Amino acid sequence: MVQRLSHEAKREQWGTKLGFVCAAMGSALGLGNIWRFPYIVGENGGGAFILVYLACIIICGLPIMLGELVIGRTAQSDAVGSFGKLAPKQIWSIGGLLGVLAGFFILSFYSVVAGWALKYLFSAVGGSLWEVDIANYGKFFGVFISEVWEPLIWQGAMMVATIIMVARGVKKGLEHWNRILIPILAILVLILAGYSMSLDGAVKGLTFLFAPDWAKLLEPEIYIIALGQAFFSLSIGMAVFITYGSYLAPNTRLPISAGAIATGDTVFAIVAGLAIFPAVFAFGLSPSAGPGLSFIVLPELFQTMPFGKIIGILFFLLLVFAALTSMASLLEVPVSFFMRVFDQGRSRTTLIVGFLIYAIGIPSSLGFGVLNDVKWGTKSIIDVMEFLTLNLALPIGGMITAFFVGWAWRDRPGSSVIGFKNQVLGVLWLWSLRIVAPITVFCVFLRSVGLI
Ligand code: TRP
Repeated sequence: MVQRLSHEAKREQWGTKLGFVCAAMGSALGLGNIWRFPYIVGENGGGAFILVYLACIIICGLPIMLGELVIGRTAQSDAVGSFGKLAPKQIWSIGGLLGVLAGFFILSFYSVVAGWALKYLFSAVGGSLWEVDIANYGKFFGVFISEVWEPLIWQGAMMVATIIMVARGVKKGLEHWNRILIPILAILVLILAGYSMSLDGAVKGLTFLFAPDWAKLLEPEIYIIALGQAFFSLSIGMAVFITYGSYLAPNTRLPISAGAIATGDTVFAIVAGLAIFPAVFAFGLSPSAGPGLSFIVLPELFQTMPFGKIIGILFFLLLVFAALTSMASLLEVPVSFFMRVFDQGRSRTTLIVGFLIYAIGIPSSLGFGVLNDVKWGTKSIIDVMEFLTLNLALPIGGMITAFFVGWAWRDRPGSSVIGFKNQVLGVLWLWSLRIVAPITVFCVFLRSVGLI
């Protein structure tokens, strides 16, 4: 007990509030924004999808993010410990446990795609990416991801970088690296978007992104996909913000930070869209290429366009850095939990947890090659992982947070303690957590598991 107390008394803290916001942004900005958002917008018809997506962020995403931050900041403990401290009924801790588990599984497949990005970055710098015949990028990608060792090695390299970052700790690792990388990400994406929009024919890409095709709103699928993407892109439903909030002083004001993180994430995704679609349309390529958009269509484009090789290097650099900062947050959630439970140091815990996650991720990588026949229905291993986490664990985690903060938390801090200057916003936030967010998430959840 004495030891536990001394452990908590020494709880790590962010150095500055800006550092915390950068780290939180680092979690949010990732493959979700640069790789996934554009291809999902492309597959689901552009502008109309973006509107549904924005609605999901405002009515569900932002309130839940703030809910997570309030839990962590108040409890000053990890995902599981926070619920345990605040709630007399231990059942709520399941919410935190689900987050720890989701962290394991999301990182296990996220690192596979991050590894692809790293391979492309190195091939772009080394030049081998530009020796591929322009019609053969699909094949090049297909051959690479179906190999056994190469993808595993790149995935491992990304995991090692993540482990180093997390092992350094909250201030020297997460905060320090993100303060450097976030401005770099912003500059890179702006350069890419500026260049892409300056191309002849870019306007068609802008029309695609911003002129809604209203008929799309009648398709129920787009609501599921938009909500799933909102959760994934904001990093919510997995206790990242409970964990990150717990490294803040208990009196920190939260609403403005949460608003800044959600706005930053959304603007970044749209600017990434502006970097990609105008160029795709300018060169007459198809926007609905699916997950291969970043790895097949874009390399084709880089090879054709003026300054394409430099632009390609910058693009894959952006992808790798963005993935890395997100991976660190995915690892931090289980690490902070296991550090407390097993009462071990940060370095050792990070190493062990990171290694386990890498091991769990191996089948996801092999699913494109030797394990190609291991399927659940039509879903490959990585699809199943994605479904279990994005469509099940994150929405359930989000609903638990919303219900807990909205209804079950007896000593929930008042809205001025949370930091609302405007009481009306505080009330709106609470009712969103009580009614709007749970009902929306629940309907979408039922639909995604096929019950309605
Ligand atoms: N938000 C990140 C992205 O857009 C991914 C991510 C990091 C994440 N941490 C998370 C997703 C926690 C869900 C939960 O790429």
